[in-house]
Amino acid sequence: MVEEALRYEQVADQVREQVRLGALRPGERIPSVRQMSRRLGVSVSTVVQGYGLLLDERVIEARPQSGYYVQAPVQRPAPPGISRPQAHPVAVTVSQLALQVVQASRHGARIPLGSALPRTDFPAVVRLHRILASLARRPDPRLADYDMPPGNPALRHQVARRAAEAGVVVSADEVVITNGCVEALVLCLRAVTRPGDTVAIESPAFFGTLQSIESLGLKALEIPTDPRQGVSLPALKLALEQWPLKAVVLSPNFSNPLGYRMSDRRKAELVALLERARVPLIEDDVYADLNYHGERPRAAKAWDRTGNVLLCSSLSKTLDPGMRIGWAIPGRHTETVTHLKMVTSLAGPTLPAQAAAEYLAGSGHERHLRSVRSAYRERRDRFLDLAARHLPSGCRVTQPEGGMLAWVELPEAVDSLDLYRRALARGVSTAPGPLFSASGRYGNFVRLNYAQAEVALMEEGLTILGELIREGR
Ligand SMILES: Cc1ncc(COP(=O)(O)O)c(C=O)c1O
Repeated sequence: MVEEALRYEQVADQVREQVRLGALRPGERIPSVRQMSRRLGVSVSTVVQGYGLLLDERVIEARPQSGYYVQAPVQRPAPPGISRPQAHPVAVTVSQLALQVVQASRHGARIPLGSALPRTDFPAVVRLHRILASLARRPDPRLADYDMPPGNPALRHQVARRAAEAGVVVSADEVVITNGCVEALVLCLRAVTRPGDTVAIESPAFFGTLQSIESLGLKALEIPTDPRQGVSLPALKLALEQWPLKAVVLSPNFSNPLGYRMSDRRKAELVALLERARVPLIEDDVYADLNYHGERPRAAKAWDRTGNVLLCSSLSKTLDPGMRIGWAIPGRHTETVTHLKMVTSLAGPTLPAQAAAEYLAGSGHERHLRSVRSAYRERRDRFLDLAARHLPSGCRVTQPEGGMLAWVELPEAVDSLDLYRRALARGVSTAPGPLFSASGRYGNFVRLNYAQAEVALMEEGLTILGELIREGR
């Protein structure tokens, strides 16, 4: 059995190596199953299995009645250009649409491409749940007590310990535990703004941030943002001169939906610029651990010397969104955020916080992150190849180096809200572009999640989207 398994891998290895060396070129026919079976002295079924592997990897393709050919490398679509949002502050009105989209996607989609949910089938999630279950059986009255702000000390210690990997050296006293990253964002926004104030955001921006801005009666100023480098610093500088901004909300590491990563030099520049202007930076760091190229990048807060950066994050994208474990490291606003947490929800859920603390104190989280990163990176590659194959030419797609989301620009005539409805009717959820803008921009964009659906379903979803986009042009 083992020998047979090795043999079919040898078949695949030989073809892969010939392709790598250029001895077999894209579009060239490879030996038939029978020829290969004779050449390597293995059974026909072994060759069929080996070729199956190569088909899965898209090294070769099968042409009906003709045989197997080396697959031509797909030309991946180019990313969209820098965004050009409205140049003045606007009141935000995305909440209704956001609620509709989130509810419809959750209940109606066989192929979930529309959410920002991570995969939760990793062994680490089971480990975390086991810890929770064993805690629940422990007769410890402290586990049924209020977990008062700033929150579970052991969890704050773990957050502070791990923050050093982001270049953020803080004590547990500087951490406030929250109900997910969204609550951290809301509390930080409330700490530094009053209704009617203006907040600058990247564009496109996470619709949760837009909803928070809307619910707090704030105005949003969208700043042009490049899908690779992030928010334009010259544009932000101009905005700071022109408008009385009270905060800037950004995701310097793998933003939602663009997936950009700011360089360290630009992060340092950003922090210095906002420090000079005395405008706080609310940094959403929720995707930073999902870097495809190894260790997580430094947070912008690593350059913060005055407590002007309020860092927000959670375990939702890397481990388990259902546990609602988030936190803020609010710099000089720690006391205000702690107070706001108390007046908003009095305390946090005690059992999940203790379970998360014990989980993070164990040794498995880094290993878990390594498997998530490599799984998502592989998915990103498959997604980009499938997008190239199934979406019509003229679509532009970001090529994220972390996270789980792609931002797709459709031909101008395609209305992404209409596409969203037609795709949902065929079981595919998408997140339409206008959700990500304060001023209703991005009518011909969609955000797609490439981590959640299995590859076969993702391919089916992209095939359906490709058809609908062609119809909608
Ligand atoms: C950028 C960003 N921040 C925060 C969140 C929400 O995090 P949490 O589930 O921890 O509240 C999301 C979820 O989609 C997100 O994309």
